[in-house]
Amino acid sequence: MTARPRRLARIAAALAAGATLLAVTGCTQQGDGSTSHAASATATSTAPLRTIAAKAGLRVGVAVNTDQLADSAEYAKLVGQQFSTVTPENVMKWDATEPKLGTYDWTAADQLVAYAQQHDQLVRGHNLVWYQQLPAWLTAAAPSMSADQLRQVLKDHITAEVTHFKGKIWQWDVVNEAFDDTGQLRDDIFLEKLGPGYIADAFRWAHAADPDAKLFLNDYGIEDAGMKSTAELQFVQDLKSQGVPIDGVGFETHVDSTYAEPDLETELMRFAQAGFDVAVTEADVRAQTPIDADQVKTQSGIFADTVSACLDVPQCISYTIWGLDDKDSWVPSTFPGTGGATLYDEDLKPKPQFAAVQKALARGVATAKKRVK
Ligand code: G3I
Repeated sequence: MTARPRRLARIAAALAAGATLLAVTGCTQQGDGSTSHAASATATSTAPLRTIAAKAGLRVGVAVNTDQLADSAEYAKLVGQQFSTVTPENVMKWDATEPKLGTYDWTAADQLVAYAQQHDQLVRGHNLVWYQQLPAWLTAAAPSMSADQLRQVLKDHITAEVTHFKGKIWQWDVVNEAFDDTGQLRDDIFLEKLGPGYIADAFRWAHAADPDAKLFLNDYGIEDAGMKSTAELQFVQDLKSQGVPIDGVGFETHVDSTYAEPDLETELMRFAQAGFDVAVTEADVRAQTPIDADQVKTQSGIFADTVSACLDVPQCISYTIWGLDDKDSWVPSTFPGTGGATLYDEDLKPKPQFAAVQKALARGVATAKKRVK
């Protein structure tokens, strides 16, 4: 189905979902049947996303800024109340966990894992290998390392991290953003020194350290058909056929609402039909600032569509939003002149985008039988 008929189908589904949402939340319908923001706000105060998502057979998650988690009681309350998985936004990355060669610091990541356990949440581990946020010692030393030395450093890092968190991580993003925008393997220090086999090795080492964790390749720009998603699909199929322990593919889903909406469902389905779990791992929807009501409507529609896309694909096991609120979002500093990409405003108040996600999840409750295995 192309984007437009799918959106029409979703509008019809959303109308049906209204009834489900009201049933889930225990609200009574407005006399005029309207879907005003006021009505949505009533619903948001009574139905946590994780409760509705659980009824739909889906985990809903958020990337957590651990400084905020420690400093803001309101932030911590919302993370625990609304989400059934958490992803560390930064504190499991290599620069945070191995500040000196062979010296590990798990403090912040351990605190998040403990928080998750206390709140009955699963953890997406993010990430083991990425060309960004590498420790300074590695960036400095890697160019003069031999392939064997770099391979050993990489193996030791993955083994130490996965072993430390063994039994506590649901999904690991083992290799992050391994492809460039043209669909070639990214020309980073790992490819340069080790060749493409470093990816299969990374999955094997992670699996050896925690055979029960689900292992993912995670990337952006694969939410739409194109050279990149096609190359990545071929690549993961090749890995699987070689017996490499890869379970799934993460679709980051950072969307700019000024461009055409990605056909996420079709792409999720392509990978699912090839035998992979899939997950929406870093969803956010940015707009040009200042953001007017029309843009909010567009952002809300895109959020709803991406939730529905995941719900419509039984192998889509989690939907994660990249950051709780607009104050902490990575978007404004990376794309100046844009913002508003999350579900909560800078004062931690839910935005219409929150209600849109809530309603889209409620629609999934109606089709839950299809998803729950
Ligand atoms: O930790 C240092 C701190 O010591 C220093 O004082 C401060 C000064 O700038 O910087 C801090 O590091 C920042 C780090 O986040 C932790 O807050 C970096 O500057 C900043 O660049 C870094 O940004 C993160 C970005 O990845 C790095 O590329 C964002 O928070 C994080 O949301 C973002 O997440 C990525 C995913 O991991 C992968 N997919 C894309 C996504 C968005 O870029």
